Amino acid sequence: MKGNNAVIPALLSKNIKLAAKVAVSLSKFAKAQIFPKKNFGYNHFKNLGLVYFKLTGACNLRCVMCGQYGDKGVMNDCAAEENKKILPLETWKKFIDEIAPLKLTTYIWGGEPFLYPDLFPLCRYMVEKGLVVSVNTNGTLMEKHAEQIVRDKWASIFVSLDAFKDVNDELRGKGVYDKVIAGLKAIDREKKKQKAKYPMLALVTVVTNKNYLDLENLAEASKEYNIDLHIYNLGTYTNDNIVATQKRFMKEKLDTDIDCLEAYNTGYNKGIDGQKLHGILQNIQNKNFGHPIITVPTLNPEKTHTYYAELETPVRNHCVVPWCQANVNYNGDVHFCADYPDYIIGNIKNQSIKEIVNGDRANLFRKTINESEGGMFPGCLRCYQNMLFGKKIKGY
Ligand SMILES: C[S@@+](CC[C@H](N)C(=O)[O-])C[C@H]1O[C@@H](n2cnc3c(N)ncnc32)[C@H](O)[C@@H]1O
Ligand code: SF4
Repeated sequence: MKGNNAVIPALLSKNIKLAAKVAVSLSKFAKAQIFPKKNFGYNHFKNLGLVYFKLTGACNLRCVMCGQYGDKGVMNDCAAEENKKILPLETWKKFIDEIAPLKLTTYIWGGEPFLYPDLFPLCRYMVEKGLVVSVNTNGTLMEKHAEQIVRDKWASIFVSLDAFKDVNDELRGKGVYDKVIAGLKAIDREKKKQKAKYPMLALVTVVTNKNYLDLENLAEASKEYNIDLHIYNLGTYTNDNIVATQKRFMKEKLDTDIDCLEAYNTGYNKGIDGQKLHGILQNIQNKNFGHPIITVPTLNPEKTHTYYAELETPVRNHCVVPWCQANVNYNGDVHFCADYPDYIIGNIKNQSIKEIVNGDRANLFRKTINESEGGMFPGCLRCYQNMLFGKKIKGY
């Protein structure tokens, strides 16, 4: 498959201004890779290239493989209580004022971000402040807001779509497919009507044992929605042994009890025929769909089997996330790992983000991960951020 960098020429040809902004973030990730990580006195705030805004823990769907609401989701029993803790718009605005001069990329997600009551004023404020606003959504609430999304100049929308109607709705819920398609068409229509380049439209497909045989057909069918990018997310998976090892490790090294990793111990990796998937991905690679298609991680096709069947074999290591990124949770807690918010480094309700990312807890995390085997923790083996920003291990 094409590497992640394949996105850059495509972006450049469509939108130079956006590509230039994204390039600033990429340069910070590169700097994190080459900068001496042992220098814990460094001002990490300056090198923030990507900040995740997890606006809400609430969601209107129950996708089976999801770490929050899936078969083993950590939010299943506490969503209503947790939703009361969301940050008011004013707190987010204060936070935005602090990060805006850094010219970084932002990624808004949840839960379902369209359920955050002030999503639109928040995004407008971010755009006014010159931030690149990217929103990851399940797409079910997009259609009715299409006019406003285009008018407000969101930079990009990453819409989850896993399969054709039957399988997609088996995974994500009845009626979801039709709503997502209606949303994609509405955004395309509005962009034409308003003669707008924004937002770039990306599809995100999580590969599971339920949908992998249909990925090529899905890529083919998606051409008609005028998308700018299609990401095949090979999926976050783990197993009993990795979870147990990570639990021990985090308790011993960082005095942290973890419960988020277990949520990805879903088994939807099981039975994926690596040989077949390899063939499907190669067919996709050899065709021109009019937009780039990438996998996360970019994987040597020969290793497809390993990715799903040998979860204990690392494919990326030396995670750089703590040196260039931060995730702010719906309640203001800040942590490095978006999907595993167990180790908290501070809270934006009562601390500045500069203070948080340069603080003792953040530095302890960096020091511990830096000293761990392969520059990652045992639980990071298929973590999405490590798959995107970790170092490619030779052969994978
Ligand atoms: C947790 S969702 C939150 C945003 C929004 N609710 C959505 O579904 O797009 C973030 C992304 O993670 C993806 N996702 C869900 N389960 C996953 C898994 N087990 N492995 C990797 N990605 C997953 C979703 O499809 C989505 O693209
Ligand atoms: S829509 Fe997103 S957050 Fe909600 S259950 Fe599905 S993957 Fe999880």
